[in-house]
Amino acid sequence: MGSWQRLLLLGGMSLRGGGGACAALRGSGVLVFRRQSILAHKFLLEQCVSRTVINSKQQLSGAENETLKQRRTQIMSRGLPKQKPIEGVKQVIVVASGKGGVGKSTTAVNLALALAANDSSKAIGLLDVDVYGPSIPKMMNLKGNPELSQSNLMRPLLNYGIACMSMGFLVEETAPVVWRGLMVMSAVEKLLRQVDWGQLDYLVVDMPPGTGDVQLSVSQNIPISGAVIVSTPQDIALMDAHKGAEMFRKVHVPVLGLVQNMSVFQCPKCKHKTHIFGADGARRLARTLDLDVLGDIPLHLDIREASDTGQPIVFSQPGSDEAKAYLRIAAEVVRRLPPPLQ
Ligand SMILES: Nc1ncnc2c1ncn2[C@@H]1O[C@H](COP(=O)(O)OP(=O)(O)OP(=O)(O)O)[C@@H](O)[C@H]1O
Ligand SMILES: *[C@@H]1O[C@H](CO)[C@@H](O)[C@H](O)[C@H]1NC(C)=O
Ligand SMILES: *[C@@H]1O[C@H](CO)[C@@H](O)[C@H](O)[C@H]1NC(C)=O
Ligand SMILES: [Mg+2]
Repeated sequence: MGSWQRLLLLGGMSLRGGGGACAALRGSGVLVFRRQSILAHKFLLEQCVSRTVINSKQQLSGAENETLKQRRTQIMSRGLPKQKPIEGVKQVIVVASGKGGVGKSTTAVNLALALAANDSSKAIGLLDVDVYGPSIPKMMNLKGNPELSQSNLMRPLLNYGIACMSMGFLVEETAPVVWRGLMVMSAVEKLLRQVDWGQLDYLVVDMPPGTGDVQLSVSQNIPISGAVIVSTPQDIALMDAHKGAEMFRKVHVPVLGLVQNMSVFQCPKCKHKTHIFGADGARRLARTLDLDVLGDIPLHLDIREASDTGQPIVFSQPGSDEAKAYLRIAAEVVRRLPPPLQ
C-alpha cells in the first residue's frame, strides 16, 4: 500500500468504521432511494465494493494507526501529489468554516448568485460536498436525480442560472447519516470527478464544517483558486475560523479572507443596529489572526427565510441591503482571485 492509499484509508476509517450500510443494502429497506434511481443504486453498489476492500484492511494495530496519523500530518504539510483540475472549470472557490451552522451554505449560494450578478458573462457552478448534511438542494430549490451524459458523467441541475451538484440529488434526505459517513470519501471523489460541468468560470464549493477529511481531500485533489472562511464573531473569538484558515494555508490554498456572518443585528422593529462584538472588535481580532475581512453579513430574518424557502436573497431581493452585502463580497472575491490558468 502506498502512502497515499494509506492516507485515504485512514480518512475512510476515521469516519466510523464497519460495513453496516453495505449489509443494510443487502438486507434492503434501510436505505431509502428515490424511485427509479438507478444512478444512486449503482453508485451505492460501487461504494460497497470499495468499502469491503477497505474493511478487510481495517484491523490495524494502535501503533500502526498512530504512524498513519503522523504520516498524514506530514503529507499534509508538504502539499500533495496530482492535483488535477476539474474538466472545463477555470477557477474553484471553496467556502469553508471552522464551526458548523455559521451560514456557510447560505454564503456559498448567495456568493454564486452574486458572482453571476457581478458579471453576467460568467458561467457559475455550485458544488455541495457536505455529504453529511447537503443544503444546496433546499436552498436552490432543486431536487431530482441528475441525468447521465453520453460519457456517463452526471449532469448538474440548474436553477437561477447556476449549475448545481449535491449529494442530496443522489440519496434521499432520510438516508441514515451513518451511510453518508461510510461512503464519504468515494462520494467526494465522484462529486469532484464525475460531473459534466460544461464550461465554468467559477465553481463555488460548499464545504462541510470543520477541518476534516473531506476538506483535506478536496484541497488535495483539485487546484483551488481561493478559500473563503465564514465565521461568526464568536467563532473568531474561539479561534475556530483561524484553524480553518490554517488548514488551507498548509495545503497551499490561498485564503481570500473572512466573511463575518451576524456581526450586526438590526432590530426589525426599530431598525436599531447592535454590534454584538463591538463595532470593530471582530475585525480587529481577524486582523491579529492575519485574515482579511471580505465583508460582513448582517443577521437578518429575511436571509434565513429566503434561504430556507429556496429563494436566495441575492436572487429574490437583489436590491436589499442584505443582497448588497453578498454582492460586495463577490466583488472582493473576484478582485482577490489570481488570474485563471486555463
Ligand atoms: N445572515 C443570516 N441571517 C439570518 N439567518 C441566517 C444568516 N445566514 C444564515 N442564516 C440561517 O442560518 C441557518 C444556518 O445557515 P447555513 O445552513 O448557511 O449554515 P452552515 O454553516 O452551512 O451550516 P452547516 O455547518 O450545517 O453546513 C440557516 O437556517 C440559514 O437560513
Ligand atoms: C486507532 O484505531 C482505532 C479503531 O480501529 C480507534 O478507535 C483509535 O482511536 C485509533 N487510534 C488513533 C490514535 O487514531
Ligand atoms: C465586479 O467585481 C469587480 C472586481 O472586484 C468590481 O470592480 C466591479 O465593481 C463589480 N461589478 C459589480 C456590478 O458588482
Ligand atoms: Mg452547510
